[in-house]
Amino acid sequence: MSDGRYLFQPYALNKHITVKNRIFKSAMSEGLASRNHLPTEQIVELYKVWAEGGAGIVVTGNVMIDRKALGEPRNVVLENGDHLNLFEDWAKAGTKNGTQLWMQINHPGKQVFKGVVKEAVAPSAIPFEPALQRFFPTCRALTSEEIKKIIEKFARTAQLAKEAGFTGVQIHAAHGYLISQFLSPHHNQRKDEWGGSVQNRFRFLKEIYSTIRSKVGSDFPIGVKINSSDFMKAGFNEQESSYVIDQLDQLGVDLIEISGGTYENPEMTGKSIKPSTAKREAYFIEYAEKLKQQSNIPIVVTGGFRSLKGMEEALEDKATDFIGLARPLAVYPDYPNKLLHNHVPLLELAPIKTGIPFIDKRAMLELTWYSQQLERIANGKATNPTFPPLLSLFLTIVKNGKEVFQQRRA
Ligand SMILES: Cc1cc2nc3c(=O)[nH]c(=O)nc-3n(C[C@H](O)[C@H](O)[C@H](O)COP(=O)(O)O)c2cc1C
Repeated sequence: MSDGRYLFQPYALNKHITVKNRIFKSAMSEGLASRNHLPTEQIVELYKVWAEGGAGIVVTGNVMIDRKALGEPRNVVLENGDHLNLFEDWAKAGTKNGTQLWMQINHPGKQVFKGVVKEAVAPSAIPFEPALQRFFPTCRALTSEEIKKIIEKFARTAQLAKEAGFTGVQIHAAHGYLISQFLSPHHNQRKDEWGGSVQNRFRFLKEIYSTIRSKVGSDFPIGVKINSSDFMKAGFNEQESSYVIDQLDQLGVDLIEISGGTYENPEMTGKSIKPSTAKREAYFIEYAEKLKQQSNIPIVVTGGFRSLKGMEEALEDKATDFIGLARPLAVYPDYPNKLLHNHVPLLELAPIKTGIPFIDKRAMLELTWYSQQLERIANGKATNPTFPPLLSLFLTIVKNGKEVFQQRRA
């Protein structure tokens, strides 16, 4: 089956919201905010192009809930109502063409490169593995008071996103950022009600969700991006992930996006997938399939989808309800329309490699290369799928200096 029969079926998310198709543009940090961390005309242009490109749901790159807790130097921050008109412009462009535009909201916790924030915070003061310690600052544990303030900040950002015209929000609980650190038994070794059992480690995400829900009402979609696993010994694993998803289902979360990995193990980019998984394209499809058997919560699987056939089979098998796409839409922003009209049945994305093992081993070059494609779209230019990775690396270093290249993150 590869005629787009499943991909272009609408999906009723709740009584009031029907998503026009099953294509879900996953978050990609734009790195295009102004120096003051506000949306720019470039961001508005980028989301206009994506909205016209045909995806049913478009999720923004991570927007930070606190300017003191940036993940990257050019992140957007939304923490108060100042300049909300700029967010309104963004929402207006991104909701064209009947597109659902959801703001991804995030706090990086300790997963932030040296020099970006004054102080890195985490559930517990656990350092990263030795190989990563030269990139990340030493962190300190949050107090209970600070934890409660962060929960309020998540809710405030969500409320402002709604006010500005975004049609939903997505809580970033994956990829090793603060919420994912709370979920992890390795990174969260607190002895109070926020640590210990999986029920306690889940409390932070639960409170964030419930506080947001109390502010935005029952009809406003709230999604959660979560790891199937952190792929780390004694870390957050599939069993705990499925417990958390089950709880989120009972609480009323509208859509769960499945991803996996952290900086320590960047599985979200498919660096080390098994051949059996590669056959089905999507890295986390087997886990999603198990989830679907035990729960009715709407699911999107992200990571690895490249062909119409792979997407159709995943939907037909009922392994997922939506198809998450990130990198393909950085290069082919109108890919959903092309799929609809059967113009690009198979998408070729060459691996981004320089031939220099030290660089190719990390996800950084890849993220930089794709960000440059986003910047081209934002500047009104065509993307360049064959742009040489070595040249991309050279340009990045010339433009931003070595440290900014190191500051790319997923
Ligand atoms: C340039 C770039 C930036 C990204 N930024 C984010 C982000 O802000 N939040 C997030 O949840 N994932 C982020 N990701 C990860 C993607 O959402 C996605 O999980 C990953 O790329 C795998 O999907 P794909 O194979 O379709 O690219 C980023 C990926 C790229 C390439």
